[in-house]
Amino acid sequence: MKIALSASRPAEAGCLIFPIAKGAAIAPAIAAHALAGDAAAASRFAGETAALVELFVTEGGQTMRVLLVGTGEGKPADYERAGAAVVARLLTSGVTQAVVDGAGVDATSLAHLGLGALLRSWRIDTYRTKLAEKAKPTLATLTLQSDAVDLPALWADREALAQGVAFTRELVSEPANILYPESFVERCRPLADLGIEITVLDEVEMEKLGMGALLGVAQGSARKPRLLALRWDGTGGAQETPLVLVGKGVTFDTGGISIKPAAGMEDMKWDMGGAGAVAGTMKALAARKANAHVVGICGLVENMPDGNAQRPGDIVTTMSGQTVEVLNTDAEGRLVLCDAVWWAQQTWKPETLIDLATLTGAMIVALGHEHGGLFANDDELANRLLAAGQESGDTLWRFPVSDAYDKMLDSPIADMKNIGPRVAGSITAAQFIKRYIQDGVKWAHLDIAGTVWADKPGATWDKGATGYGVRLLDQLIRDHYQA
Ligand code: BES
Ligand code: MN
Ligand code: ZN
Repeated sequence: MKIALSASRPAEAGCLIFPIAKGAAIAPAIAAHALAGDAAAASRFAGETAALVELFVTEGGQTMRVLLVGTGEGKPADYERAGAAVVARLLTSGVTQAVVDGAGVDATSLAHLGLGALLRSWRIDTYRTKLAEKAKPTLATLTLQSDAVDLPALWADREALAQGVAFTRELVSEPANILYPESFVERCRPLADLGIEITVLDEVEMEKLGMGALLGVAQGSARKPRLLALRWDGTGGAQETPLVLVGKGVTFDTGGISIKPAAGMEDMKWDMGGAGAVAGTMKALAARKANAHVVGICGLVENMPDGNAQRPGDIVTTMSGQTVEVLNTDAEGRLVLCDAVWWAQQTWKPETLIDLATLTGAMIVALGHEHGGLFANDDELANRLLAAGQESGDTLWRFPVSDAYDKMLDSPIADMKNIGPRVAGSITAAQFIKRYIQDGVKWAHLDIAGTVWADKPGATWDKGATGYGVRLLDQLIRDHYQA
């Protein structure tokens, strides 16, 4: 589905959509407006966010579908949910062309409606060869009808964001036989056309740099690891040090020799959700030509059991020089991140570094699927992220870090263990990464294990990959890291 903008109603529109604020009078600009009012009353519709009333009318001798959609209090999130609700209803309805009557809706709100609609239309049908005719999407174009002069620019900006979210969802959805470290990199190659500079380290280069922790995870897999850096500088060199984002990109996590139970293991295809969010954010920034300097790094490995896999008890030396006793090969994300964040700091000397990872099952126990977990060594950065979460809808909840938790990682034989005791699993995982953050660097860690994938449809997504993180980081960068 695509979004079009038009000042007039397209002749081919088979469905007219009228946004209605909560409690507003129901008098859509159609001949049968009385009928629409009766339908709304009979459906007990009062403009509640994303509530729908569907009716058929004859207009100029043509049978038309009409949708009334509630926009509630009129906040951006209300308009997004309204757009998403419309698309959820129309996507496979038989309607091919629909138009939103934007009269009386300001351009910003209309752009938000368009964003919600576009996000909700995303789906992956790559592997369906037998989709029933009635299950196939029909909606080809949703036109936002408005004469607001500022709509095109506002919409271009929202559309760029939607492209970033879509890219993340694609990466997260692909199965691990298709998406593995090298093919993840290949999927990102086209980002160069948007002006993103791409650097890729292979296993030989990582070996030279001493990335023993990342390579230890990778050594059980037939797939070679990669470290990918995507750099966007929209400032023309004005911001010397970039904001650095680092994502966990475990393209499949079996647990390794500390193997996971079979039930639900297929979920571990999305254990690259942190890297996926980083790549999608970079795409959004470049697509909207953000006036910011950002480097996105993806640590890409597959965690497999094998004759060459690392064993519990193995001791690896990280690029930082610190040694790790690998007591559980399933605590692999932190092993990937510790080398990726160290390389990031050595290479880019950032003031601020944010990592994103589907790091712990314990995060889902704590927060469910409603918030991502936030850990930070800097209150200002934490508060900026919390605010960006509220603003974007990718919400966060902060957890503590402290020396008492840090001690839980001490090892009797190496500098640290890769797991803590049974308790506080998400916090000790964060503390592990913190041991690789250099003095003075402002750091936040987002454990997004619960928010990358949805088992049921949400505000602007169907079940499956949510694209969580892209909107959050885009908002954060808009608010604080643009020149
Ligand atoms: N990728 C998992 C965490 C995860 C689990 C994400 C479920 C999403 C859904 C991670 O690599 C892992 O296995 N963590 C272990 C850590 C433990 C061994 C200390 C976990 O959470 O059980
Ligand atoms: Mn694991
Ligand atoms: Zn994992």
